[in-house]
Amino acid sequence: MLTTRFTQALGIDHPIVQGGMMWVGRAELAAAVSEAGGLGIITALTQPTPQDLVREIERARTLTDKPFGVNLTILPSINPPPYDEYRRAIVDAGVTIVETAGSNPEPHMEMFHEHGVRVIHKCTSVRHALKAEKVGVTAVSIDGFECAGHPGEDDVPGLVLIPAAADQLTIPFIASGGFGDGRGLAAALALGADGINMGSRFMCTQESPISQVVKDRIVEASELDTNLIFRSLRNTARVAKNAVSDEVVQILAEGGEFEDVRPLVAGARGRKVFEDGDLDAGIWTVGLVQGLIHDVPPAGDVVRRIVAEAEDVLRSRMALVDAAPLPA
Ligand SMILES: Cc1cc2nc3c(=O)[nH]c(=O)nc-3n(C[C@H](O)[C@H](O)[C@H](O)COP(=O)(O)O)c2cc1C
Repeated sequence: MLTTRFTQALGIDHPIVQGGMMWVGRAELAAAVSEAGGLGIITALTQPTPQDLVREIERARTLTDKPFGVNLTILPSINPPPYDEYRRAIVDAGVTIVETAGSNPEPHMEMFHEHGVRVIHKCTSVRHALKAEKVGVTAVSIDGFECAGHPGEDDVPGLVLIPAAADQLTIPFIASGGFGDGRGLAAALALGADGINMGSRFMCTQESPISQVVKDRIVEASELDTNLIFRSLRNTARVAKNAVSDEVVQILAEGGEFEDVRPLVAGARGRKVFEDGDLDAGIWTVGLVQGLIHDVPPAGDVVRRIVAEAEDVLRSRMALVDAAPLPA
């Protein structure tokens, strides 16, 4: 059992979170992670309306009695979804843990606090983590450059970002990006984090509601098989390397603008990859850690074996302390 400030603050058994994932974070996956003692998270915007989100939350409750959370990703956009209505739905449904991401959670904090909701804010820099601490979040989840999705523009990998965060934050925080096994969890704890957040690893589990073809692709792929798109637009996203993301990288590298790639990056095309298993239908998100993913187990097994492996790693490393020198 690995008890940390994070497990205590959130009332969970293991310091492992399944981060919000568009099209992936549905009730079955979130419930399986929570049922195993981690923290599963339903992704609000995967549900077409706030009412659908409430139904998804109710469905998760039929699958587990353990705490689970809801991710609210607040991205600036021309036609934003009704964030306030999703937030109201979360609160009215009695959810007590929310993962915010995408921008400053401050405008949402008053209502969350009023209803006793604990907020885990996910961000990609120490300065944003400190800002989130200041506006009263319970914990921070800090994504290194390795992560799937949006790593920000600072390009600081976890090996430096995690201890830098540990040096400055006072609230509990978890490390995110590039974690997929117990060695990673042990390393995150050693670097000062109170747990880990994972996306890609949980995307490649039995309860993950995406095509088996995509899961098989993740198992086959190496850490070299991702692309960073939108670099020149300062809205970087790490996605799977495929014909479409290669084309996007090329167009933007040759001076193209967002309008030139808009049809290629449409969300509906990415959704088709997950639903139909057509790997080149569009852009789809995955992280460097796919190079460490070799199977498609039940999500609960992922939680249990990562904890067991991390405990073994920590114990075996402890044996190095004051160990007698090896015979020459
Ligand atoms: C398919 C997929 C979709 C994602 N969608 C979201 C999202 O909608 N909102 C969000 O905050 N993070 C999203 N993420 C990021 C994850 O929550 C997590 O921060 C990230 O995957 C961590 O990196 P890892 O994949 O190396 O574990 C997504 C990740 C994946 C793999």
